[in-house]
Amino acid sequence: MMAERPSADGPLLELDQVSRVYRTRTRFFGGRGRAVVALDRVSLTFDRGEIFGLVGESGSGKTTCARLIVGLESPDEGRIVLEDQDLTALRGRAYRQYRRQVQMVFQDPYQSLNPQLTILDSMAEPLITNRIDTHRQRRARVMDSLKTVGLSPPEDFIYRFPHQLSGGQRQRVAIARAMIVDPACVVADEPTSMLDASYSAQIFELLRALRREFSATVIFITHSLAAARYLCDRIAVIYRGRLMEQGPATEVIERPRHPYTRALLDATPKFGRGEKTPRYDTLIQTERVSAGAGVGCAFYPRCKPARPERCDREIPVWRQVGPDHVAACHFAAGGPEAGG
Ligand SMILES: Nc1ncnc2c1ncn2[C@@H]1O[C@H](COP(=O)(O)OP(=O)(O)OP(=O)(O)O)[C@@H](O)[C@H]1O
Ligand SMILES: [Mg+2]
Repeated sequence: MMAERPSADGPLLELDQVSRVYRTRTRFFGGRGRAVVALDRVSLTFDRGEIFGLVGESGSGKTTCARLIVGLESPDEGRIVLEDQDLTALRGRAYRQYRRQVQMVFQDPYQSLNPQLTILDSMAEPLITNRIDTHRQRRARVMDSLKTVGLSPPEDFIYRFPHQLSGGQRQRVAIARAMIVDPACVVADEPTSMLDASYSAQIFELLRALRREFSATVIFITHSLAAARYLCDRIAVIYRGRLMEQGPATEVIERPRHPYTRALLDATPKFGRGEKTPRYDTLIQTERVSAGAGVGCAFYPRCKPARPERCDREIPVWRQVGPDHVAACHFAAGGPEAGG
């Protein structure tokens, strides 16, 4: 028996002011170590059946966000709510139910697939854990699921081990394994960054097909605005643990309003129109010194049009810059710096 899909109105999943701080220990001196704020008061909502892109460069907090959403880690502050269930308060059966409803596809398929297990055993595992089906039925379900992700005939795959597949096939199996428990939401953390371009395109098509077929919400994590534009309905841009801009994918790409988003676009060959004539030219070359960590805008040290008296002293809140389109910049909604 498959669990019932949550069906109320409103967003499927919500992050409410979520923070995560990593403390690194200095081993030799036993001190408290350095604190890394991986996520800083991040609020997001994910609608049913949408593909949502979380875009940011390396170290911006994307994987941290993914691990919190699927429950592999707990936030230090804030709430993560699926329907009306607060993940941080869930225990026992309700917690296991949450973990089943929200699945993760890792960048490296080996994080989902045990190299010692055949594809059949790997894929049957979540069914056994969640007490879905009898032994016989599980095999049939695994076969069906492999077909859904384009691995057919499935008989050719079920007795193989992960290392006997291509990288693209392995990632398909990892996606099939995430989908086999019929989740409401799948978080895919850079699922194609280890694949060749042609395989990447196939995985994108597959994610789209799965959204259509299972109406699952897909949270797609990437460092590439081009990939997010191609695949996603909405996009949020994250920088050093803070959200900079979010809105419909076309809005954010065609009419970016945050200097950081513009800088990212300039750095994307597909959108930047070559190095000589960047569209926005907002990223400064060297980091300027900031008065204090966490006091002002996270992008202040690299933002060319920034005004120190404001940007280095006050954390920007969301400003409406278009239909369903917001930017966390003091000057995004108007003024000479915002540009057009
Ligand atoms: N377990 C950990 N202990 C200490 N610091 C961590 C830990 N995990 C992540 N960090 C730090 O938190 C920040 C965010 O890391 P995260 O892995 O979420 O970034 P990311 O956006 O996924 O980057 P990438 O694109 O490289 O995968 C980084 O500064 C990282 O060094
Ligand atoms: Mg990551």
